[in-house]
Amino acid sequence: MAARILVAYTTKYGSTAGVADAIARELAAAGLEARAVEQKEVTSIEGYDGVVLGAPIYMGKPLDLAPFVARHAAALSRMPVGAFAVGLTPVNPKAGQLEQVRAALSSALAPLEPVAATVFAGALDTSKMGLADRTVVRLIGSPTGDHRDWEAIASWARELVPLLGA
Ligand SMILES: Cc1cc2nc3c(=O)[nH]c(=O)nc-3n(C[C@H](O)[C@H](O)[C@H](O)COP(=O)(O)O)c2cc1C
Repeated sequence: MAARILVAYTTKYGSTAGVADAIARELAAAGLEARAVEQKEVTSIEGYDGVVLGAPIYMGKPLDLAPFVARHAAALSRMPVGAFAVGLTPVNPKAGQLEQVRAALSSALAPLEPVAATVFAGALDTSKMGLADRTVVRLIGSPTGDHRDWEAIASWARELVPLLGA
């Protein structure tokens, strides 16, 4: 029977949803039974053989990832877990910033040790945002536009297949 994999993600403006869907599609193409579900729709992860957790980075932290890990700690500790963060740091990193994002991802996952964890370049469309977020974007001088690298995302998903025990 094909391994059942849940790709559980958070998102504020939808770009992480696109990455999660692309990962689920690639896992399904490799023969796994994979589905992407927004984290707030996930009540239980029982019945899955592996989980991929995804979250966008806001103010240096993966959005709502740590509480999900805490809530499902026991079940997650019994299965392979892959994780990805989506942010704009990879587009134009200053010294040490990418390391900080990686560290924030590890710390949100702790004490879980993921079979793979990575940070993808995301997307930012100021026309979708409220005033508060637009102001932050202007203040931190963040790049805008869609920087998601679909080939890098698909390639990471293919590498995950054997790591998820499939
Ligand atoms: C208010 C705000 C704060 C952000 N903070 C960070 C950050 O600290 N690090 C980072 O890499 N990206 C940061 N970003 C960029 C987002 O992570 C990026 O746009 C991501 O693709 C958004 O995902 P979503 O569309 O799924 O919400 C920020 C974006 C906004 C609007």
